[in-house]
Amino acid sequence: MNVLNRRGVLGLGAAMGAAAVAAPGRAAEPDFLWGAATAGHQIEGNNVNADIWLLEQVDPTVFAEPSGDACDSLHRWREDVAIVSALGLNCYRFSIEWSRIEPAPGQFSQAYIDHYARIVAHCRDQGLAPIVTFNHFTTPRWFAADGGWENPDSPDLFARFCERAGRALTDGVSHALTFNEPNLALGGRWSANPLPAAFQDRMSASIAAAARASSSDRFSLLMGDRDPRPMIPKVVAAHRQARAALRSLRSDLPVGLSLAIPDEVAVVADSALERKRADVYQPFFEGVVDDEFVGVQTYGRDYVGAEKSVEPPADVPRRANGKEWFPAAVGNVVRYVHQATGKPILVTENGIDAEDDLERVRFIPEAVGSVLAARDAGVPVLGYIHWSLLDNFEWLSGYGPKYGLVAVDRQTFRRTPKPSAEVLGRIARTGRAT
Ligand code: FCB
Repeated sequence: MNVLNRRGVLGLGAAMGAAAVAAPGRAAEPDFLWGAATAGHQIEGNNVNADIWLLEQVDPTVFAEPSGDACDSLHRWREDVAIVSALGLNCYRFSIEWSRIEPAPGQFSQAYIDHYARIVAHCRDQGLAPIVTFNHFTTPRWFAADGGWENPDSPDLFARFCERAGRALTDGVSHALTFNEPNLALGGRWSANPLPAAFQDRMSASIAAAARASSSDRFSLLMGDRDPRPMIPKVVAAHRQARAALRSLRSDLPVGLSLAIPDEVAVVADSALERKRADVYQPFFEGVVDDEFVGVQTYGRDYVGAEKSVEPPADVPRRANGKEWFPAAVGNVVRYVHQATGKPILVTENGIDAEDDLERVRFIPEAVGSVLAARDAGVPVLGYIHWSLLDNFEWLSGYGPKYGLVAVDRQTFRRTPKPSAEVLGRIARTGRAT
């Protein structure tokens, strides 16, 4: 099963409203974070040591196209940071690439660690709070070849990477996310539209080809062709160990992870909703007990029947692409996750794939409005970060889906902010969704 394309074709709560507080020698943090998000593999380009790069290259592949140069953000990251700042946002979420920092087991690239440390420092220079993700889906090719999250050593390996990278970064970072959506593979198992058997066969053949290319008999990734459930305890352990490693570097660093959670509606009396939640979220809700916050990532609403998710009712409002129009989903998820965990909530991703930016222009105020309403109802909400800053490499779907506030020319890499970017910027400057 693969869920990389599930939507496509293929402790600061108490400080809400309080003045910004800075530790001695540290930048003041905004009262409410307004930002845009990216991920290394999706924007940097030529991430050649990553497992997913390899899966894009092998024959057969399930990727619509290879990531190639992506948005060339490896070289153009200053431009990206400048755009975030010029829009009037106050934070930038990006990820660091494990496979660049540790291209071979135990061999760390100081040059790449410095590269990411420069981005953190530059964000601060531009008045932006850097939110750093340590794992956004990709792992080094050697890690996958060594069994990925099935490898009993995987929590130690991940924590070692976080510690090494963290040494140069943690001082300037505003919030650290160990993992991006480590529950996504679990969620895919409840989908209304399981991937066709032919696709799954192709995925397995692709992973077998990647294993051969790596001389491995256990090439594995969380969102691959294997049952993810046995891997989850190791991912949760990796989160805990990484959190401890980061805290050992800086005891007051807010650490969390982000979860993929749609708004959910039980459509029958004996709905599987609670069973689904126990399966897809509970292991992580237990893993975040000692975290400072939970990152929430919402892309719509799920209707849960007796066994799994079902199609939305025929009469729901629809978007141009046929999906349900329901921007307020994110506010409901913010409420649910706070109620389930007691933690402050940071919306680390929310957005839509829209060819026509006017949809996004309408979407953002409604989505943000639902988040601010949750905050006004008493939920400690730390901020709203939109996915995505740039039109980028959307995994299996390649460069097809357009989630960006900013268009990127595929030949020149020229960035052009869309009207929706101005909308989010105005909201950030006024603090009001309307
Ligand atoms: C999320 C991912 C992000 C992006 C959006 C559309 O699941 O975290 O990288 O692909 O979906």
